[in-house]
Order: sequence, then C-alpha cells, then structure tokens
Amino acid sequence: MINNAIPLRIAGIGYSVPETVVTNEDLTKLYDTSDEWIYTRTGIKERRLVSGNEDALSLGVDAAKKALDKSGLKPDDIELIIVASSAPPQLYPAIGCRIQTALNIPNNIPAFDITAACSGLIYALSIARGYIASGMYKNILLVATDNNSRLLDWSDRSCSILFGDGAGAMVVTASDDGVDDIISLDIRADGSIGDIIQLNLQGKNCPLVEQREESNQYIQMNGKEVYRFVARVLPEYVENLIANANMKAEDIDYLIPHQANLRIIQAVQERLGYANEKVVTNIEKYGNTSAASIPLALVEGVEKGKVKLGATAILTGFGAGMTWGGCIVRLREGIC
Ligand code: UT7
Repeated sequence: MINNAIPLRIAGIGYSVPETVVTNEDLTKLYDTSDEWIYTRTGIKERRLVSGNEDALSLGVDAAKKALDKSGLKPDDIELIIVASSAPPQLYPAIGCRIQTALNIPNNIPAFDITAACSGLIYALSIARGYIASGMYKNILLVATDNNSRLLDWSDRSCSILFGDGAGAMVVTASDDGVDDIISLDIRADGSIGDIIQLNLQGKNCPLVEQREESNQYIQMNGKEVYRFVARVLPEYVENLIANANMKAEDIDYLIPHQANLRIIQAVQERLGYANEKVVTNIEKYGNTSAASIPLALVEGVEKGKVKLGATAILTGFGAGMTWGGCIVRLREGIC
C-alpha cells in the first residue's frame, strides 16, 4: 500500500436472490442426472434462478439498496459505483449506470463494470481500496451480480447443475477511526488457461467479409480442469496470503470462500486446519452464484448466527480468467 494511505471501512453489505428454487430433483426433468450425483460431487441441493423479467440488474439493485441501508449513507453520498458481473443481462449500458439511475444516485458520478468472474467482488474491492487509499473517492458502492442461468446451456448436465443466480453489494468508505478493515488483499490472474471456462459473445462479421467459425454462445466449462487447477493452487495461495499478512491461520475467525464446489472448500479448510464452525458454506442452497457468492455467504452466515460480527474473515474466490484473489477483512458490528 502507498504511504499515508487512507484506511477503508466496510460500511454495509447486502444480498439478493430470486424467489424461484430449482432442486436437483427438478433438473432430472431436463437430463439424465440425480440428486445423489450432483450432491456428492458438488455439495449442491438446490439453486435460485431468475424467472420472468428478473435479472442481474434487478437483483443488483435490491442488494445495493440493502447495503446502502446498512451503511447509513444516502444515495447522494455515493461518489463511484463499481459492478462486478460476468453474466450480465446486457453488455452496455454498464450495470453500474443502470444501478445509478435506479437508486437515484447523482447522475454525474462515475460508474463502470468489471469482468473477473467469480473473483469479481475481490477485484472490485481492490479497485475501491486504491481509490479510497489515494483520497480520490470516499464513498463507493460495489455490486457483484450475475444471472448465470440465462447464459447456460440447459442441456449441458456437467455445467448447468452448478450455477445459481444472485447479487451481493458492499458500501465502502474512508475510515474515520484510522482502522483499516482490509488487513490484506491480493488478486491474481493466469490467462494462459483461460479457455477452461468461457462465455463467447455471439456475433457475425460484416456480410461483405469472410464469416468466422460459429461459436457456442453459452457458458462452457471444462469442470475437471477447473477443479484440478483450483484444488492445486487455492489452498497454498490462502496459506501464503495469511503468512504474508504476518498472521497465523488461528488468528482469523472465519473462512468465507467462493461457493463453487464443496470439495474445493474442504481442501482449503483442511490446509488451514479449521473446524467446520469457522467455515461458511451455503452452496447446498444456492449453488455457484459467481461474483455474488462471497457476500451472499457472508451475510447469510450472519443472519443464521454462524458468523458473529466484530470478527475477522478470509474471503477468497476464483473463477474464469482464470482469476483468483483473497482478502483478510475486519467485519464490524452492524454491517449487515
Ligand atoms: O466458478 C466456476 C468454478 N467451477 C468449478 O469450480 C467447477 C469445478 N469442477 C467440478 O465441480 C466438477 O468437475 C463437476 C462437478 C463439474 C463435474 O464432476 P467430474 O467428477 O469432474 O465429472 P466429469 O465431468 O468428469 O464427468 C464424469 C462422468 C461422465 O460420465 P462418463 O463419461 O464417465 O460415463 C459424465 O458424463 O459423469 C457424467 N456426468 C453426469 N452424470 C450425472 C456429468 N455430469 C453429470 C450429471 N449427472 N449432472
């Protein structure tokens, strides 16, 4: 961090999920699968999916309202909006601009979207941290939202079983008590293996020129390769994140990981030597909600009494890119 950096306070967090529940049993109507196969390989029992006109924007607006409410800030106070979304309802206008209007946030502040897939919230937080540290902006709204279900091939049983829809939001602000809620933050990418999860935009070349090969327009994933990569990299990465912060695993109260596969979460848990009480999982109910999954797990963990505020937590995520990241945070009372 830069010298004389202004510390960051996490002021409010919220989430939103669609009402509609689709269980593993429901998916047997689409293809040859079973609750047993899905649950034992992933830890997922059901997921929430957008229906009708719901989408990542409506979920994002709802999550942002809740985060703003908890933060005690007003729409007028927000100076920048950053949205992390890799499965958005449209590429532009940016979801950030749509949320600005929907929440009556002043229409002369900047708003933009970033693409870092399931690591999106941590990437967005790292950008916000830089802006706050430098004094450029004081109050920033971060939203992580994806409508994966609209971009899946619902005949692809190895990929479509995994995902759900949802949104998370965080309001961060310059800390006025000198305490930085970000104890440590790190983001990474390795584009050389980028094709193991991808989502191509459909489109055609100008009719006057040679056409390109038709591409699949749905989320495509080589699940085995993703699994192998993450299981190899993530446990050691999280261990190093803690060591680089001059901390020990036992100094931190909770592990709140991206909810992609229960077996991957357990591999990180084992490496840190954490008991189940310290590890927050809700993949069983929501599946993989991409960028939303970390704030969703965090706030739901608080609602269920599993996570006690006034504690510290490691947030860690990975996703298409491949991207990954981790953050050790202070969770103050009243943030959700
Ligand atoms: O944020 C995004 C991150 N993504 C991930 O974290 C994904 C990580 N990867 C995984 O979680 C696992 O790779 C999956 C759960 C996606 C798949 O598990 P797998 O053990 O790697 O299965 P596989 O794709 O290698 O398939 C094994 C078998 C195949 O049958 P054969 O060829 O052995 O006869 C598949 O056709 O399982 C079959 N299969 C299924 N069977 C029943 C694949 N999907 C299904 C299904 N139900 N839904």
